[in-house]
Amino acid sequence: MTVMDYRDFVRPKFVGLLQALGLECEFERALGSQLFYRNPKGDMVTVTDFLGGYGAALFGHNDPQFVDQLCALLRSDVPFNAQMSIRGAAGQLGRALSDAFNRELKNTERYISTFSNSGAEAVEIAVKHAEFRRQKSLQKQFDDIDFTLASLTASEHAYRELDVADLDLPAGVLPATLNSVTLRQVVEAVRQHNLAQLHIEPVFVALRGSFHGKLVNTVQLTYGRQYRAPFARFGLNVEFIDPQQPHQLQELPARHTHHWLSLQWDGEHLHVLQLPFSAITAVLMEPIQGEGGINEFAAEFYLGLRKLCNEQQCPLVVDEVQSGFGRAGTFLASSQFNLQGDYYCLSKALGGGLMKIAATVIRSSHYEGEFSYIHSSTFAEDDPSCHIALSALRRLFADDDAMLKDIRTKGAYLKASLNELKMAYPDVIADVRGRGLLVGLELHDLSVSSSLVQASAQYNDALGYLIAGYLLQFEALRVAPSGSNSNVIRLEPPACITLGEIDKLIAALQRVCDMLRRGDALPLAAGICADSMPALPARQDDFRVTEPVENRDAKVEVVARVAFINHLIDADILGDVDPSLAALSPEQKRTFINRTKPERRAVPVGPVIIRSRLGMAVEFTLYPLCMDSDAMAEYIRSGDLDSIREEVGRRVTDARADGCSIAGLGMYTSIVTNNCQALKIADMALTSGNALTIGMGLEAIEQGCVQQGLALCEQTAAVVGAAGNVASTYASVLSATVDHLILIGSGRDGSVRRLEKTAQQIYADAARSILKGTAEHDRLAQRLLTLDGFRGLLHSHGQKADLGLHIARLVDERLGANAFITVTNDLDAIKGARIVLCAANAPQPFLGAEHFAERSVICDIAVPLNVHQDLPSQREDVLYMHGGIVQTPFDDGLAPNVRAYLKKGQLYACMAESVLMGLSGMSQHGSYGDISREQVQQVRALAATHGFTLAQFKTQNSL
Ligand code: F0G
Repeated sequence: MTVMDYRDFVRPKFVGLLQALGLECEFERALGSQLFYRNPKGDMVTVTDFLGGYGAALFGHNDPQFVDQLCALLRSDVPFNAQMSIRGAAGQLGRALSDAFNRELKNTERYISTFSNSGAEAVEIAVKHAEFRRQKSLQKQFDDIDFTLASLTASEHAYRELDVADLDLPAGVLPATLNSVTLRQVVEAVRQHNLAQLHIEPVFVALRGSFHGKLVNTVQLTYGRQYRAPFARFGLNVEFIDPQQPHQLQELPARHTHHWLSLQWDGEHLHVLQLPFSAITAVLMEPIQGEGGINEFAAEFYLGLRKLCNEQQCPLVVDEVQSGFGRAGTFLASSQFNLQGDYYCLSKALGGGLMKIAATVIRSSHYEGEFSYIHSSTFAEDDPSCHIALSALRRLFADDDAMLKDIRTKGAYLKASLNELKMAYPDVIADVRGRGLLVGLELHDLSVSSSLVQASAQYNDALGYLIAGYLLQFEALRVAPSGSNSNVIRLEPPACITLGEIDKLIAALQRVCDMLRRGDALPLAAGICADSMPALPARQDDFRVTEPVENRDAKVEVVARVAFINHLIDADILGDVDPSLAALSPEQKRTFINRTKPERRAVPVGPVIIRSRLGMAVEFTLYPLCMDSDAMAEYIRSGDLDSIREEVGRRVTDARADGCSIAGLGMYTSIVTNNCQALKIADMALTSGNALTIGMGLEAIEQGCVQQGLALCEQTAAVVGAAGNVASTYASVLSATVDHLILIGSGRDGSVRRLEKTAQQIYADAARSILKGTAEHDRLAQRLLTLDGFRGLLHSHGQKADLGLHIARLVDERLGANAFITVTNDLDAIKGARIVLCAANAPQPFLGAEHFAERSVICDIAVPLNVHQDLPSQREDVLYMHGGIVQTPFDDGLAPNVRAYLKKGQLYACMAESVLMGLSGMSQHGSYGDISREQVQQVRALAATHGFTLAQFKTQNSL
C-alpha cells in the first residue's frame, strides 16, 4: 500500500488533505503533456497536464531527446562527483547562459553563474552574495573613515578642548552630561558610533504576493504567512511592499538610511560630516508572480524598483525560477517589462524537466570573486545536469527561437479561449492573466454562494483545489491553484501541449463555471468521493436561492453577536444544508464527510436576527463543523478528545474574531468539551445550553401530563441515559415532583455505578433543599424527612461530600432497595413508567413502540433523538415530544436549509440559551460544566421574560 507508506513514513497529514481534495492519485508514468495513473478498477487513465511540474516541465515529461542524452552521458561515464576540479560542463553552461543574457538584455557584460540544486537555493545564494558584497563595501567605507579619524587622533590638536555646544554631533554620540571634550574624545565617540553602524541588521525588500522558496532564509522572503510566520524568529529581516501602493517605494529609503560620521579639522573648528548609507541589502522580485497568483504589475512599478536599487546601491534580484527560461514566451519574462536586474535566479525548466539544477546569474561588475571560495554544494555543477541544461538552453533558441514562438502562440490561444469563457461567465470568472504558458484564471469570491459546500471551500481557501480534484477525477486534467490564492487556477502546461488539449481544458472549465454559477457542489463532492461515484449526471438544476433574508429588521437594537458551534445531526442532513448534494446516497454523504476530515470548518451561516419580546435583539450565527454525530461520537470512543476539542475551540475563536462575545455549544460539541470546560478561550462567554434544555423538557412533561390526564405527582418517571449531567439534573428536578424514579443506564462498563452516583446526587440535592429551607414542595425531601434517622444524618453529614451515599444507605436499610429510585440498565424497565425522559448520548435512535407503557408521556431531549420517529404512527396512545425546542417570540429563527429538524421560528434550547445570554447582556459563562437545579429555574425565568416558550409540544401528535 504505497498510499499508506507515503502517509505513514513521509507526509502524515498531507495525504489526508490530498484525499479531502480528490487529489489522491499516484502517477505511474509521465510523457510529454501526459501523466498516467491506474484507477481503482485497474485501468490506465491518461491525464493531460496543465500544471507542468509548477512550471518545471516546460519541455514535457521525460523528453525523449533529453532522456537519450542523459542515458548516453551516464553510459559514457561522465563524472557526477568530481568536486574540487575543473568542471567543464559547468563552464560551458555558464558561458552559454552569459551569452543568452547578453542577447536577451542587449548588452555585452559577462554574467557569472553560481550553480545549485533548487530554486530556493538559487535565491539563498543571491541573498548570501548580496550580503557578502554589502559587508565588504561597508567595511571599506568604515575603514576609509577610520583612517581619517585615526589621523586626527594622531594630530597635534588631539587634546584640544572643544565646547560640546559648538559641535554638530547627533544626539547620543557623546554623553549628555559633558560640556567640553577633547578632540580625541570626540574621535573615539565617533568611531564607536561607526562601529555600531557596521553591525546594523540588513534589510531585504520583497513584494506582497511573492514566493521565493521555503528554506530558512527564503521562506522569510515568501509572502504567504502560513509558510513564513512560524519561522519569523530566525532568518532574514524582510520588508514587503505592495505593488498596488507604489508610494511605499518612495517611503522605503528614509526608513532604512543610516549615517556614518566623519570629522574634519579646518585648523580652527571641528566639522562633523554625516555620510548616508542604506541598510537595504537587496530587492527581490518575480517579474510575474507564480505561486502568488500569476500577478504582473505596472511597467512604472518595475522601473521604480530599478530606480530604488540604483539609489540604494543594492542589487535587484530578479527571481525567474518560474517565469524564466521560456515559460512566459521569452528567455526571461523580465525582458518583456524592459527590466534589467543585477542578479537572476533560474531553476525549474533549466534542467529540461529531468535534472535538479538552478543558477544564480550575476553581472560580473556586481560579482565578488571571493564568493566562489566560500560558497559550494556537493551536488552543484555536476556534469550530467549541466549537459542537459545546456541542451535545454540550445533547444529554447534553436531554429530561430521556434520554441519560444510556439509558446507565445499557444499561450495567446489559451488566453484568448479563457477570455471568451470569461465573457460567457463574467459572474464566475474575475480575471484572466499571464504571459506565454504561464496563465492564471481567477474566480470570483464564492463566500456568498448559496451552496454551503462551495462557500465553505472558499472560506477554507480550498476552492481551486476542489476544482482541481474534480478536473482530475472526471475530466482527466491536471491543474492546481496558486498556493497563496486558491481562487486562481494556475495553467503552466508543457510547451508540447496541443491546441486540441487546450480546447479540452476550456470545455471542462466551462462545465466548472456552469456548476459554480448554478450553486451546484455535486461535481466538487464527486471529485472527493470519486471511487463511490462512477459517473456524474449531467444536469442543469439551479440551486441558487433567490428568497430574500427574512427577518432583517433595520430598526431593532442588536445588543450582542452570538455564535453557535454545531455539527451535522446526521450525514443525511447534508442534502438539506446544501441541496445540490441531495442526490448523493447516504453512503456517499458519509464518505464525503469522512474524507473532508482535514478541514472541518464550514462557512459560518448567518447571521439571523433573533428578537426578544422586550425589543432588543441579537445576531445569531452558526459556526458549523462538517461532521455527523457518528463522527463526533467516534472521538469519544477512540479517546482522542484533544483533536476534537481543538476543532471546536477553533470555531469559537473564529466566532470571536468575527466579533461574537457568546458562543453556545450544542449536541456533541458540548459533550466532547465536557460541557465547555475543556476550552480555554479568553473573552468568550460559553454555554452548553443544558439548563434551558432541561427547563424546556420539564415544561414539556408538565404540559404533556395535563394533556394525557395524568397527575405528575402520582407517576413513575424513567430517565434514559441518566448518568449524564443533563439527564441527572433532570432526574433531580423530577424527583421533587414524581412518585418514583427509574434511572436507566447505557449498559456500558460501569454504568450502574454511575447511575448509583446519580441517585446519591439526587438524595443530596433533596437534603440540601431541606437545609436551605426550600423543600416545601420537594416531594422526595418530604418523604426523606419521615425516615427514621434521617434528621440525625442530616445533622452529622449535612456538609459532607458523601451525604448522598449515606442517605442512599439509610433508604436501603429502612425501606429496601428501589424504594424511591430504581437503578437499572434494563430498557424493559421503561414500561414501568408513564413519564419517560430520553437523554442518552447515542448516535442512533434505539427506543421504539415496544418500549413504552400505555398513555405515557415521552420527552426526547436527546440530539440526535433516542426514539425512532415512527413511534407516533405506531402508538397513538402515547404522547411523544421533542422537549428541547424553543419558540422565539417573533418567529425568528434559522434559514430553512440549516434548520435540521426545526420548524420556522424555532431554536434548539441549547441555542436559545446562548441567545438569552446575549439578550440579557451576560458576559459570564452560562451552563458551564455541571449545572444545578437553580440554574434551570433561573434560565426558565429568563426565557419567560424574553418571550421564549416551549415549541415542539404543539406540533407533535394531537393538540
Ligand atoms: N522562486 C520562485 C519564483 C518559485 O516559483 C519557486 C517555487 C522557488 C523560487 C523555489 O523553488 O521549490 O525549487 O526551491 N515555486 C513552486 C510553486 C514551488 O509553487 O510555484 P524550489
